[in-house]
Amino acid sequence: MVPLLLSLVALAALTPLAQSHFTFVRIKTDGKWHEPLQYIRNKTDMYNEWKYYNSNFLYRGWNWPTYVIDRPESVRCGRDNMRHAPNTDVLTVKAGQELEIVHIRASPEEWVEDYFQCEDMEDRGVCFRKPGWYNDFNHPGPLVVHLSKAPEGQDIRSYDGTGEWIKIHRIGLDDPEERPLNWTLYRKVPQKIIFKIPAQTPAGQYLMRMDVIWSGWQSEYIKPPAAGLAEMYPSCAQLNIVSDSTKELPQGVKIPEIFDIWEPGMTTSGDMLDFKSLDANYTYPGGLLWDGEKMNIDSPYFEWYK
Ligand SMILES: *[C@@H]1O[C@H](CO)[C@@H](O)[C@H](O)[C@H]1NC(C)=O
Ligand SMILES: *[C@@H]1O[C@H](CO)[C@@H](O)[C@H](O)[C@H]1NC(C)=O
Ligand SMILES: *[C@@H]1O[C@H](CO)[C@@H](O)[C@H](O)[C@H]1NC(C)=O
Repeated sequence: MVPLLLSLVALAALTPLAQSHFTFVRIKTDGKWHEPLQYIRNKTDMYNEWKYYNSNFLYRGWNWPTYVIDRPESVRCGRDNMRHAPNTDVLTVKAGQELEIVHIRASPEEWVEDYFQCEDMEDRGVCFRKPGWYNDFNHPGPLVVHLSKAPEGQDIRSYDGTGEWIKIHRIGLDDPEERPLNWTLYRKVPQKIIFKIPAQTPAGQYLMRMDVIWSGWQSEYIKPPAAGLAEMYPSCAQLNIVSDSTKELPQGVKIPEIFDIWEPGMTTSGDMLDFKSLDANYTYPGGLLWDGEKMNIDSPYFEWYK
């Protein structure tokens, strides 16, 4: 009996980390990592999504994937995020300022202090100290970060993200010609996620949506809507952006619409999912990429040949 119990406990402790699920959990500004979920809306665990063809997937745990057929608010900012919004702090940042973000593969009930004290581990913000345990992204796919400005006069804590979103950062393939395909974040120890809020961003309160998207599978014969559904892992931070920019925001996209199964980057071929090749005209998901000046087609081909 005892060995069985012990092994069950050991299994329970190991299983979630062996899963490929994760949630963005911390932000670093001015050289300081903030508390887990201080500025990022939490998610409800367990949560009942409204439909899914496999009933096992109606109930979703804290760091489980989100699919475009889930509740629209789940696709925007994570399951039940509006319930957590009023209890989430608002982070003041300057337009042009650098941010670092990090995810965690363990869910809250497993957290220990140690996971968040990583000064000696390249100050990663989240770390696992057991040999063979990595806080990696076990999904080949791009990171996309979007901003959505709350309507004038509305507190970000009550904004649901139904307005427009603009992609401000993406991490995809370092070198699109490398084979097997080498997704930058899909490594045992992924690259740090450091980027800037574009300096041209006008002042205001914003949601910052962070996601790594693993595309669904399609073939010549099996195309949307029958194709596979991409896994998303969205979380939103609440930002107050201080800026003296007088520039207007470019036109953005709507969520969940831009992550529809028909949209670019949301389904890819078996060969691409097997790292063998890059689909012709592959475009990263989430719409055009804003560099602060112009909106760019966000494709490795575009990057490669420009
Ligand atoms: C976030 O939600 C999880 C799941 O309900 C809960 O265990 C955890 O305590 C929450 N954390 C914060 C900081 O609210
Ligand atoms: C991917 O690129 C990184 C960085 O250049 C390199 O270290 C790694 O060996 C490459 N291949 C794989 C399969 O990760
Ligand atoms: C290639 O992708 C871009 C961006 O998604 C799209 O605008 C364009 O129509 C595509 N071209 C072809 C030939 O499919």
